[in-house]
Amino acid sequence: MKITVIGAGNVGATVAQLLANKELANEVFLVDVIEGIPEGKALDMYESMPILESDTRIYGTTNYELTKDSDIVIQTAGLARKPGMTRDDLLIANASIVSSCIEQAFKYSPNAYYLVVSNPLDVMTYVAQQVTGLPREKVFGMAGILDTARYRSFISMELGVSMQDIQALILGGHGDTMVPLTRFTTVAGIPVSDLMSKEKLDAIVARAAGGGGEIVKYLKTGSAYYAPAAAAVQMVESIVNDQKRILPCSVMLNGEYGYNGVVLGVPVILGKNGVEKVLELNLNAEEKALLQNSVDHVTETMKEAVELLKK
Ligand code: 2OP
Repeated sequence: MKITVIGAGNVGATVAQLLANKELANEVFLVDVIEGIPEGKALDMYESMPILESDTRIYGTTNYELTKDSDIVIQTAGLARKPGMTRDDLLIANASIVSSCIEQAFKYSPNAYYLVVSNPLDVMTYVAQQVTGLPREKVFGMAGILDTARYRSFISMELGVSMQDIQALILGGHGDTMVPLTRFTTVAGIPVSDLMSKEKLDAIVARAAGGGGEIVKYLKTGSAYYAPAAAAVQMVESIVNDQKRILPCSVMLNGEYGYNGVVLGVPVILGKNGVEKVLELNLNAEEKALLQNSVDHVTETMKEAVELLKK
């Protein structure tokens, strides 16, 4: 297993480290445009492997040629939000960064799976798919796991119970227009609505939707990376170990939920063949309306991205 991580910033470096700690790859290549940063961070991580008892070898480079024949490519490069910015404010800068990184990686790894983490997430996943021309099984984005992880953490804080017992699903675009399915949220099998008031749950949903912004406000110069990296690595683990986990991931819809050609967060089965299946849920009228709102938002931003890439 050879995995390439594009972007040696906070998300990329944390992803590389987690991949190595979990020994999910024999080789991890950390790539960046800024000479010295990927080499230095990768060497530092390489030197931690004897202590962490992992045989993953991590290399840092600015040269995509060395990433040749990667099995999985993880796209993290791109600008991060500053306080007051929305993810969509990153569109202009990140559309060109993502398309150029993916183009270079694809030249050397045409058979890889492409996992996108850069924002605005759903639209950047679409960009990666356009650049590679690969089917949706092989190009997908990380967002739903992060959004549900925030939601699950807040429920655990509120109820004082193990995070492991909280199961949740989310649909829709990353962040502000996400569609949390409170009906499908359970705590050790108990519907969450039996354990807390609607007001409390609504407040938790709102906090989860704005969860990325909450971190940006604290950090001021960047956005979250520990939870985003952990979420991306969970997707890799499900593929590498063919776990067939059901995880909310961003993927092109081909008629599911009544939508075509839009990239959106939906529950999928992730296994050795990538996105092996998109699961369709029976939504009620309220959930359908929220999903439509999310679809409208992502479709609008996708159109802008298409225009930008033409230039
Ligand atoms: C977040 O939600 C960076 O979009 C990422 O924190």
